Amino acid sequence: MLPQPKIAPSMLSSDFANLASEAKFMEQCGADWLHMDIMDGHYVPNLTIGAPVIKSLRKHTSMFLDCHLMVTNPLDYVDELVKAGASGFTFHVEVAQDNWQELVRRIKAGGMRAAVALKPGTPVEVVFPLVESAEPVDMVLVMTVEPGFGGQKFMPDMMTKVNTLRKKFPHLDIQVDGGLGPSTIQQAATAGANCIVAGSSVFGAQDPAGVISDLRNGVEGAQASLSFFK
Ligand code: DX5
Ligand code: ZN
Repeated sequence: MLPQPKIAPSMLSSDFANLASEAKFMEQCGADWLHMDIMDGHYVPNLTIGAPVIKSLRKHTSMFLDCHLMVTNPLDYVDELVKAGASGFTFHVEVAQDNWQELVRRIKAGGMRAAVALKPGTPVEVVFPLVESAEPVDMVLVMTVEPGFGGQKFMPDMMTKVNTLRKKFPHLDIQVDGGLGPSTIQQAATAGANCIVAGSSVFGAQDPAGVISDLRNGVEGAQASLSFFK
């Protein structure tokens, strides 16, 4: 079975003062997941939200909350995010070299989906053991910008990583994050990405629902073409 398209607006580009209504709006616009960027001001030079905000938002939506942790100590956040009602927990491989087995085990024991992210400078081979493990991650996030801020330019060089993963793991959920929108979806989707995070291109659009549907069509179109998986 082909990996399902999952379009995840990044709430980092939403109005944080109106998070509940922004989430509802994204649901009406056809989003599959809500991407929640959790930054600690240490792993990346920006500070955003944590478990208390996820907990508050959970009271207003039943959508899948796809939490992307740009933090130095991801293990410290697992229990609080489980309690808060997070659905997915993505940690960065760069800070989990020594404890990724424990991280994945605890994330899954808490009922969340586990995913691993890699920064632009990190070689793709580093995540292979996490996908091939007896208790594997459910998704790999290939960053297509340096993590920390929305609104940056998509890095096309990262598509070789996506394509390497897609060839090796045909059914894996592969997510891309950073600079995705109608003008870059083709590159990401033909390389093999099926989970698409998009912040500024969705929230900055006149027609956010139209952008979400363009992103979905991009993934479906690439999957239907003969070049997919090659
Ligand atoms: C950046 C975050 C992204 C960001 C994407 O570190 O991980 O999720 O919000 O924003 P855009 O789509 O504007 O590049
Ligand atoms: Zn993100």
